[in-house]
Order: sequence, then structure tokens, then C-alpha cells
Amino acid sequence: MSSVVVLGCQWGDEGKGKIVDYLAAEADYVVRYQGGCNAGHTIKVGNETYRLRLLPSGVLQRKKLVIGNGVVVDPEVLLKEIEDLKAKGFDPDLSLSDRAHVTLSYHRLLDAAEENFKGSLRAGATMKGIGPTYSDKVARYGIRTSDLLDPDILEQKISQNALLKEKMLNLVYGVSAQITKEELLATCRRFGEALQNYIVDTSIVINNALDEGKRVLFEGAQGLLLDIDHGVYPFGTSSNTVAGAVCTGTGVGPTRIDEILGVVKAYTSRVGAGPLPTELTDETGRRLQEKGKEFGTVTGRRRRCGWLDGVALRYASRINGLTGIALTKLATLGGFDPVTICVDYQVDGKTVSEQPSSIRVFSKCIPVYEEMAGWPDLNEVEWASIASHGYAALPEETKSYVKRIEGITRTKVKIISVGESRDATITTTNVWKS
Ligand code: IMP
Ligand code: MG
Repeated sequence: MSSVVVLGCQWGDEGKGKIVDYLAAEADYVVRYQGGCNAGHTIKVGNETYRLRLLPSGVLQRKKLVIGNGVVVDPEVLLKEIEDLKAKGFDPDLSLSDRAHVTLSYHRLLDAAEENFKGSLRAGATMKGIGPTYSDKVARYGIRTSDLLDPDILEQKISQNALLKEKMLNLVYGVSAQITKEELLATCRRFGEALQNYIVDTSIVINNALDEGKRVLFEGAQGLLLDIDHGVYPFGTSSNTVAGAVCTGTGVGPTRIDEILGVVKAYTSRVGAGPLPTELTDETGRRLQEKGKEFGTVTGRRRRCGWLDGVALRYASRINGLTGIALTKLATLGGFDPVTICVDYQVDGKTVSEQPSSIRVFSKCIPVYEEMAGWPDLNEVEWASIASHGYAALPEETKSYVKRIEGITRTKVKIISVGESRDATITTTNVWKS
């Protein structure tokens, strides 16, 4: 048995998709456990770039795929993704949890209405209906995938929701919308028919796989600072993105997790609203954004960029109990000299070393920076050549940067990515136990 969790340590977009694809080569199962189609995981295979939103990134390695109960599933998006991949020669071997909640059209309408209402406290949501789907789950109005296959329950739930959501939109938010029960029911029946062969109790699937000694890779979406409890509330997403969510989101016990690999991008990026202490609004920030191709996968929005935030990394190490780090996008930082790391914050002249809970305090945090020597701006071929020779071949300045991150997080950097392609990757420690 061996199980590895890959999760984001910053604001999402750390490069989890690439790391999952890389590790999936040696996995049997790849499992999503939270989030929904707000995620956008980009993977480059040969000359083709794939963008996945709901299917686990192991699909390109033709592995067994699981979407766990903690994920919110927009069936329209999932079915389209399956269809597109089939057209490209990948037939997803998918198990979809019977307990996963479903995103419907009214969730997307409510997402927009709620964001609008919140004004300056809005998160800058991806507008995929993620927040309202999780709200319904917690308020016990939600529709699970298994409900799509149960005509009586479905009819009851859709009747309630059609009535309620129309009232909320029209009377509370002042958005004129007509939510038709019959239309929704027809859509849900269509979804049920199309998905019925995938819907199973996925906790049994994963636990059986672990019993049989299979390798299971858990793929996180978003990142720590977007977590509903530990993130920068209310500017994050509506799911738990931390390691604990693997267990609640799949029905696998904490004792069955072997490795928790945090993905850290060599600098900071953030798509959406809210305070961001190390954000660079100057020329350096613009260069990072351009060189790193920092555009949202799902929304196309320009990502805000800045230096690496060590306070966030220490926090990620503590909250997730990291056992290793996958460090990505070191090639993007090439040519920046010096490279700069935030090691603490200052608020009103006092040092703050831990993530504050208050957004008022967080928005006043001024980074305390440390400068390090940069490394050259090498091209794709040069980085791939370095990767083929392993860690020792990295420029000395890059190694110092890696060591500094290990010092800040007290966690070993086990994987280093120096480019988009699979071979631009260095493993210093194998994360699979057996
Ligand atoms: P929501 O998840 O669509 O509700 O968006 C809430 C916040 O999380 C917004 O600031 C989004 O920009 C951010 N967010 C959600 N998903 C992702 C992601 O996959 N990558 C980066 N940011 C995300
Ligand atoms: Mg993304």
C-alpha cells in the first residue's frame, strides 16, 4: 500500500497538474477529493496542452480515476470533458462518488448574484457555482449524484429548490430569473442517464485498492490560502483545501495516508480579490506574470504576481503536516537578480511570523524581505538538459534557493520542476513507499 497526497501550498495554480501527471506514471489510481470545475489543471504532453477541470490529472496516464464525495460536480462540464478526451483517444476509467454534490444552473446564477451583493468583500469567484453548491450541501438542500438516479427523491428536491432559488434570486437579490421545475428535472434525468455507469461508492473503491497494495494518488485543487477554514476568509473558495480534506472528501482514514507533498511555486500568484502582501505591481511583477504565463486557466484573468511568501509556506507546512515539497517554476525565476523571499511580516512596526486570521491585519502586513543571488535565464532545452543530469546539475544559486525553502518550511524538497514538460523534472527522493 502506498498513498500520496499532492496539494497546493499557496493560492492555487502552483503547478499541481504537472506534478500529479508526473507522479501518476507510477500510480494505479488518481483521486480528486474537493473543489469542482473552478480548478484548472494544465498538463503538457508532447506538443499538446490539456486543461482539466474535473477529471483527475491521471487521465492522461490512463490510470483509474476517482471523483470523491468531497468534490462538487457540474455534470455538464464533466460530460463535456469526458467527450473531449474520448475524441483525443483517452477513454476515462472513472468512478464518481454517489455522495458527490451536483452543481446546477441555479447555483451559477446565485454565484453571480451573491458576489455582486458582497461588493468589496467578494472573493472574485470563478462563477462556476462552487460556493452555492457547497452552501446547499451544508444547509442540506443539496442534490447528490445518487439522487439523479432516484426519481422520487429527485422530484422532491428539485421542487423545493426550484421554488426557493427563484425566490432568492428574484426577491432577495433582485435578479429576474425563472427557474422551471420541469426543465431542471429533465436536465437532471439526462445527467443521471449519462453518468449512471460511473456512479458508485468510491470510498469502497479506494479502500479496496489500498488493501490490494495499489498506489493511490490524491490530487488537490486550489491551495491553502483559499481554504474555507484556514485560508484568507472570505476571499477564498468554499471547500477545505488542506490535507485533512482528503479523508472527509473520500472516505479514507488518516492512518492510510503515507505522504503529503505540498506543491510550492517559486513565486506567488493569485487570481481573484483580497490582500496579497508580496504582490508586485511594478515592472518586476509584470515580468513575472508574462514570463510565467500567469493567466487563469478557467477564467482567463491575469494573475497577480509577487515574490515567494515564506510565512505562507511555514503555515502550509504546519496545517498540512507536509512530508515533502514539490517546487515548481524555478525556470520562470531565471534572470531575476536578486530573487527575493518574504520571511516575516511587519504590522505597525511589530514582527508577525504567522498567518493572521483577521483580514484587516493581513491587509496591513508589510513583507520583511531577504535577497538571494539569482540564476541565469536558461531556455527550455538547457533546463531539460539540467533535469536529465539531476539535482547536482542545477546552478548553485538555484540550489541555495531550494535549501532556503527547505529551511523555512523544515521540509525536504523532493521534486523540482524546471519546465512544463514531463522530462523537465528532477526527483531527489522517491515519494512512493512501495
Ligand atoms: P470560487 O472557488 O469560484 O468560489 O472562487 C473563490 C476564490 O477562489 C476566487 O478568488 C477564485 O479566484 C479562487 N479560486 C478558485 N479556484 C481556483 C483555482 O483553481 N486556482 C486559483 N484560484 C482559484
Ligand atoms: Mg489552476
